[in-house]
Amino acid sequence: MCGIIGILGKTQAVPRMMEALKRLEYRGYDSAGVATVADGRLDRRRAPGKLSALEAVLADSPLAGLSGIGHTRWATHGEPTEANAHPHMTDRIAIVHNGIIENFRPLKDELLATGVRFEGETDTEVVARLLTRYLNEGLAPRDAFRKTLGRLEGAFALCVLISGDDDLMFGAREGSPLVVGLGDGENYLGSDAMALAGLSNRLIYLEEGDWAELKRGGLQVYDAAGNPVTRPVTLSQVAATMVDKGNHRHFMQKEIFEQPTVVAQALGRYLDPNEGTVRLPDMPFELADIPKVTLVACGTSYYAAQVARYWIEKIARVPVEVDIASEFRYRDPVYQAGGLAIFISQSGETADTLAALRHAKAAGQRIAALVNVMGSTMAREADLVLPIHAGPEIGVASTKAFTCQLSVLAAFAIKLGVARGLVDRAREADYVSELEQTPKLMARVLHNDGKMAEIARQIADARDILFVGRGIQFPIAMEGALKLKEISYIHAEGYAAGELKHGPIALIDEKVPVIGLAPKDELIDKTVSNLQEIMARKGRVVLISDNAEHEDGLLARFPMPPAGDLVAPILYAIPVQLLAYYTAVEKGTDVDQPRNLAKSVTVE
Ligand code: M6R
Repeated sequence: MCGIIGILGKTQAVPRMMEALKRLEYRGYDSAGVATVADGRLDRRRAPGKLSALEAVLADSPLAGLSGIGHTRWATHGEPTEANAHPHMTDRIAIVHNGIIENFRPLKDELLATGVRFEGETDTEVVARLLTRYLNEGLAPRDAFRKTLGRLEGAFALCVLISGDDDLMFGAREGSPLVVGLGDGENYLGSDAMALAGLSNRLIYLEEGDWAELKRGGLQVYDAAGNPVTRPVTLSQVAATMVDKGNHRHFMQKEIFEQPTVVAQALGRYLDPNEGTVRLPDMPFELADIPKVTLVACGTSYYAAQVARYWIEKIARVPVEVDIASEFRYRDPVYQAGGLAIFISQSGETADTLAALRHAKAAGQRIAALVNVMGSTMAREADLVLPIHAGPEIGVASTKAFTCQLSVLAAFAIKLGVARGLVDRAREADYVSELEQTPKLMARVLHNDGKMAEIARQIADARDILFVGRGIQFPIAMEGALKLKEISYIHAEGYAAGELKHGPIALIDEKVPVIGLAPKDELIDKTVSNLQEIMARKGRVVLISDNAEHEDGLLARFPMPPAGDLVAPILYAIPVQLLAYYTAVEKGTDVDQPRNLAKSVTVE
């Protein structure tokens, strides 16, 4: 979602801020802007649309200054117009904001009643006007900022410049992440480590309620009560070069093809091939004592949770509940004492998943976070962190994070089975050697990408596409449908193959392609029967399978290597990613930043 950069530097801020905003493009946005303070005077440039539009504005009307704040905005309150774009500015301050000010209406009414005038419709402008009012009342900047924070409800990360002072910047974090970067005679603020990559690798993650006063030569962090506090400095692993497409046309393509490497990395952290064992980070609780596992996530991470349910129940015989984070805490879930709740999130910042995590924590559950971003809020609030080691994922459509999530969840399921005495040493070693084959098999699937590009050409004109699978392939069918719809804008749904006859088969005609996921397992005959029912109604079936026996009447078959239950879902994720990717390319959509979507969804 929105991205923030703030620089108190020694060289011109605008080119550096534009570089940082480009690194933040992956988060999704629909307008952008920058502001500087130079010789005490604030000025700004903003533009709706992509950063190229802002670049054009800056080319016409450059902006000087060593201190600046910049923002990419994903519209929540008010359309993505120039007036609603950040920074918001008055004669006293300039401000950028991520999140939502929930009490902006009463605050706005209060300000309107005192004659304050508003330019746009955003909740952020209320903060700008309130802070200005306190400065106009004579408060010093630090006091005015603190008093403003005390009036705000909701989730926010703020970054503020003050007119009349080129060496002063304020930041605050409440519900939305904000990171301080420490430089050499410079200091920075950013919405994540990616914003600051290339500027600084020495980072301070502000904690909930923290606010900070930055100068070039110093920094003071305060907690919510206004007490000066010291927060630890962490070294960022995110390099600016990671935000690079290499030889690929899109980040998504690069990330799909990186999967054998990153899955090998992830498995390398969790498997010991010499010993034939799974190793997990140190546990603050006994795995063997867990009576129930609750898995909660959104989007693609939710489908990873659905696959994990099959593994955990089958291998470790522990009951598993899976839910979508935005539904979970509102249905008053029944927790089991001593239960483990695992929150799965690439970003570790998804607002709904974070809220669900806090709900489960308040109910006394043991909390694990399976995340890609180690400094993320979920990682910091969990009792146990299971990193997925996928490296930065830039494409909005999640690909490598999904297969790394699955790899770690498979390892977790085996370890749980071991802890409960259901998986003996020999079985554990078998599982480990099975999982060890995954990267090699993934590379074989990717080798056939040209075949999927051909299939994509044949289905790219469809209005609706169905994905079907049984058992552990059912979540992969849903993931395939999500991937396709989010980047190609073709309507797609994933169904359990056995459910088609209960309604969805009414949609089938010669215009509706159906993608069948059918590894040669104990369910293949049933899945193939379901696909034959579709073909009997003129549906165009693409079969993704290692079984070459059922090719009659198919639109196409995408060949897969044979794989067992532990590896097959990881492997079958690849063809559906490739199908979505090549279909989107065929349709000419914006693959990496599809319309209306954000990489990290930090509002509920
Ligand atoms: O960062 P998270 O894993 O918590 O994100 C959850 C979803 O927003 C995310 O998976 C989304 O569905 C992706 N765009 C799917 O490709």
